[in-house]
Amino acid sequence: MKNKKSFETRAVHAGERVPPADFTPVTTPIWTTVGYLYENMDDLDAVFDGNKRGQVYLRYSNPTVEAFEAAVAELEAADGAQAYSSGMAAIHAALLAAGVKAGTSVVAALDVYGATFSLLHSLFKNMDVNLRMVDAINHAEVESALKESGAVVLYVESISNPLLKVADIPALAELAHRYGAALLVDNTFAAPYLLNPISHGADMSIHSATKYISGHGDVLAGVIAASKENKKKLFELNKLVGGVLGPFEAWLALRGLKTLPLRMKQQCQNAQQVAEWLSKHPRVTKVNYPGLAAHPQHELAEKLFQGRGYGGMLSFEIEGADKAKIFRFMESLKICLPATTLGDVYSLVLHPATSSHRSLTPEQRAQVGISDGLVRFSAGIESVEDILSDLEGALAAG
Ligand SMILES: Cc1ncc(COP(=O)(O)O)c(C=O)c1O
Repeated sequence: MKNKKSFETRAVHAGERVPPADFTPVTTPIWTTVGYLYENMDDLDAVFDGNKRGQVYLRYSNPTVEAFEAAVAELEAADGAQAYSSGMAAIHAALLAAGVKAGTSVVAALDVYGATFSLLHSLFKNMDVNLRMVDAINHAEVESALKESGAVVLYVESISNPLLKVADIPALAELAHRYGAALLVDNTFAAPYLLNPISHGADMSIHSATKYISGHGDVLAGVIAASKENKKKLFELNKLVGGVLGPFEAWLALRGLKTLPLRMKQQCQNAQQVAEWLSKHPRVTKVNYPGLAAHPQHELAEKLFQGRGYGGMLSFEIEGADKAKIFRFMESLKICLPATTLGDVYSLVLHPATSSHRSLTPEQRAQVGISDGLVRFSAGIESVEDILSDLEGALAAG
């Protein structure tokens, strides 16, 4: 028998499984392993059973992903968090974990993100789930929908995409629970910086972490903050369906999260100034921004967001603009980028009718209130003077 292993065997095993040295890295490293070894099989068995802390398999959990989840739970004032490969995977999981199945009903805000609207109207409707779409600002309408349908879920966005309606989370939580429904909140636009829905009674706070949480336009991710009980349900479900976040993406998201308050502070200030400037512009007929005194939920936003600002998102309508005119306006911008995302350090513009809400029929968009002349703006962290002069130039050109 050869003592020395062959070159092929050494190439596979060399350098691996060196026992960890006695130090703690300052920042969480990217753990890319799929599996783990234990002293003995009993230890692995105990980890499987949840009687010993540890890792089993990448679809179950991962130290880098767990660090990201712990950070989100902390910032969302929740017991725990579950990370996903995208915001849509998180939304899908939240609905399933909250008990949505054939024969049940969901009451959802009419003006939710386009893909969420389509998820409900395609996959869930085809699964024989009854849908009631409501104006979440109108609590009488929400109440009668909950009462009549016996819904298991009330689904809203804390700040709606793209019409910037602000949901009264404490009141909606009370309403939902009174009729036996769970309140699921898509908190992407507000981010944990402005709002912690769980503290106001929501059952789950869902994020497209692709947006403010990561903040740099370089990662697709989703995350749900929840109670211990709901986290367990989400974890068990994800072990089966596997829409997990990878360790590289978790590392980027965790890194992004560290500057969330700095970014959002600047984004809120920039958005406020842009909204005020646009409201005075002769070519702009309507500005949707909760920071404007004229916004119908301005006072509610002030109360819920603890005076931290009103978010980095706004939308506006350009006088007489159709799709072609909006496209020319967007092409004329030099700093604000016409990219189909939001919440980045870069300022971004988007035409909801042809992007975020493209999957809706023209009739559905009209019902929601999304016109062809509506532009969505996501404030970046650039100098506001440069943003304003860019918008001025494009409005003059279009
Ligand atoms: C409010 C909101 N929720 C959810 C999503 C979906 O997130 P993702 O693209 O990460 O799947 C988006 C995407 O734009 C969004 O704007």
